[in-house]
Amino acid sequence: MIPEIHVALSSGVLTATISRSDKKNALTNDMYGALADAIARANDDDEVRVLLIQADGDTFTSGNDVSEFAAQATGNGPKERNVVRFLQGLANATVPIIAAVQGKAVGVGTTMLLHCDYVLLSDEAQLITPFVNLALVPEAASSYLLPLRIGHAKAFEMFALGDAVPADVAVAWGIANKTTSAADLRAEAHRIAGKIAAKPIGSLTAMKRLMRDAEKLVAQMDCESATFVERLASAEAKEAFMAFAQKRQPDFTKLARQ
Ligand code: COA
Repeated sequence: MIPEIHVALSSGVLTATISRSDKKNALTNDMYGALADAIARANDDDEVRVLLIQADGDTFTSGNDVSEFAAQATGNGPKERNVVRFLQGLANATVPIIAAVQGKAVGVGTTMLLHCDYVLLSDEAQLITPFVNLALVPEAASSYLLPLRIGHAKAFEMFALGDAVPADVAVAWGIANKTTSAADLRAEAHRIAGKIAAKPIGSLTAMKRLMRDAEKLVAQMDCESATFVERLASAEAKEAFMAFAQKRQPDFTKLARQ
C-alpha cells in the first residue's frame, strides 16, 4: 500500500483513488504498481464485481511523472517498469471498469479511459494527449484504439496537436458516456458502479471478453513500448523534458529528424 493510491472494497465495488494532488496526480512507478495490484485484485477476488478508478483534487491525472521519463531517458529509471504491468492489466481486465474523471486527464490519464467500460466526465473535464509535444509516441494501445473509436482524422489531431478535448466533445466522439457536474461526479460514478455490480457477474465478464481483443491490445502495447523507449532516448525528448523542468516552451526546430 502507498499513500498516493487508496484502494477500498464496498458492496462489490473496488475503488482505486489516485491521490497526489500537489503534483496534479502525476503517476510514478510506485503508483502504477499499486494500480496494477488493484486490477489484479479485481480479477482474482470473487468479492469484486466492478473496478472504479477516481482521483482526488482538481485534476484526474497529469499523466506519467515527467521527471521519471527524464530519469528513464538517461538510463536511471526503475528496473521494473510497473506501467507495463498496469497497461497489460487494463488490457486483460475481466471485470467492468468505470472511471470518474474531473479536470484534466493528460497522457495515460486519457489513454487508460479507452480501456474503461463506462467513463463519466465532470462538465469541465478535458482530455489531453501530448505525446508528440513531449517527442514521444502514444501508448496503452491508444495508437490502435483511439482511431478505431473516433476515426483517424480526430485521433491524429488529438495526438499531433495535443490540444485539450472538452468533456462534451469527448462524449460526442464516443470516448466517454456522459458528463455530470463536478459536485455530483463521485456520487454518480458510485451509483452506476452499484447498478453494474448488481448484474450477473458471469454474464458481464463474458460480454466484456467478447467485446474486446485483449491479445491484439497487448501486441499493440508491445510495439508502442519499443518505439516509446527509442523516442525517450532521443535529443527531441531530452529537449522536451528539460523544457518542462525549466518551465519553458521546448524548441524542436533546430533538431534534425532521427
Ligand atoms: N510530472 C511531474 N510533475 C508534474 C506533472 C507531471 N506529469 N504535472 C504536474 N506536475 C507538477 C508541476 O511540476 C508542479 O510542481 P511544483 O509545484 O513542484 O512546481 C505541480 O505539479 C503543479 O503543476 P502546475 O503545472 O503548476 O499546475 P497547472 O495547473 O498550471 O497545470 C497541468 C497542470 C497538468 C496542465 C501541467 O502541470 C502539465 O502540463 N503537466 C505535464 C503534463 C504532461 O506532459 N504529462 C505527461 C503526459 S505523456
